[in-house]
Amino acid sequence: MTKLDMNEFKMLRDFIELHCGIHLDESKTYLIETRLTTLMAEQGCTTYSDFYFKAKNDTTNVLREKIIDAMTTNETLWFRDATPFNAFQKHFLPHFAKEIASGKKSRIRIWSAASSTGQEIYSIAMLILDYCRSQTSLRPEHFELLATDISPTVLFLAKAGRYDAHVISRGLPEEMKKKYFKQDGKIWIIDDSVKKMVTYKKLNLQEDFSFMGRMDLIFCRNVLIYFSEELKKNLLHRFGNILRPGGYLIVGSAESISNYSSEYSLHIFEKAMYYQIK
Ligand SMILES: C[S@@+](CC[C@H](N)C(=O)[O-])C[C@H]1O[C@@H](n2cnc3c(N)ncnc32)[C@H](O)[C@@H]1O
Repeated sequence: MTKLDMNEFKMLRDFIELHCGIHLDESKTYLIETRLTTLMAEQGCTTYSDFYFKAKNDTTNVLREKIIDAMTTNETLWFRDATPFNAFQKHFLPHFAKEIASGKKSRIRIWSAASSTGQEIYSIAMLILDYCRSQTSLRPEHFELLATDISPTVLFLAKAGRYDAHVISRGLPEEMKKKYFKQDGKIWIIDDSVKKMVTYKKLNLQEDFSFMGRMDLIFCRNVLIYFSEELKKNLLHRFGNILRPGGYLIVGSAESISNYSSEYSLHIFEKAMYYQIK
């Protein structure tokens, strides 16, 4: 593997942070080496400096997107960490159902802000569909589900809703698989009833998203950890601006926002932590 010198590390680190917010300190030089070497070779570059200048001067942005794809960690699974989905099913859905039934709300808007290949938002959609089957007052049309990610590749996979046996086996309960997927050879295809509930959009969380309108609940899980302190603070503030008064935010189980924002109060439902805008 080609060795990265400190000057090259700094150039690429700044380029990556500028374009996707991922903050790498000096202990992460190996990440650039392991994730970008193949791409560098494909581009016919023999040094990281050549590669950096090629990416910087690429007016088509194709190479930039490939770098973002290589540097982002897209790990995800169905019902990841279980507890937030338990809270969604037992706490949030009954609460939203009451708001709909009383006429306080006509629509509930939920955003998966770093959706990766779709498992998070589809897990939410399946729980909504299950809940609607048991509740005559609530219908899938009462929900608007939005999923965004910076990576066009993961969005393409999410929209396709086609997963291989390995991906399907990661966290998806057998009964959900039976209800909401059909098999086509080695591939499992998500049912249209689930897929059509979700709108996908490419979005860099560093950029303005106020145009998306008010949200009732934001899932922003397992992405804050990659961002600088400054971006975390700024993003949490901007989430607050688009949450409806008293709206909710769920972050990853290993993430805490208390050092970055005082605009939210922390709540616990069973073992799930969630935040509410004050
Ligand atoms: C580890 S995955 C988390 C997926 C899912 N939320 C979960 O918890 O299972 C992180 C996702 O964040 C996306 N991401 C990284 N930087 C981003 C940015 N600046 N804007 C939007 N998405 C970003 C990556 O492309 C990746 O798909």
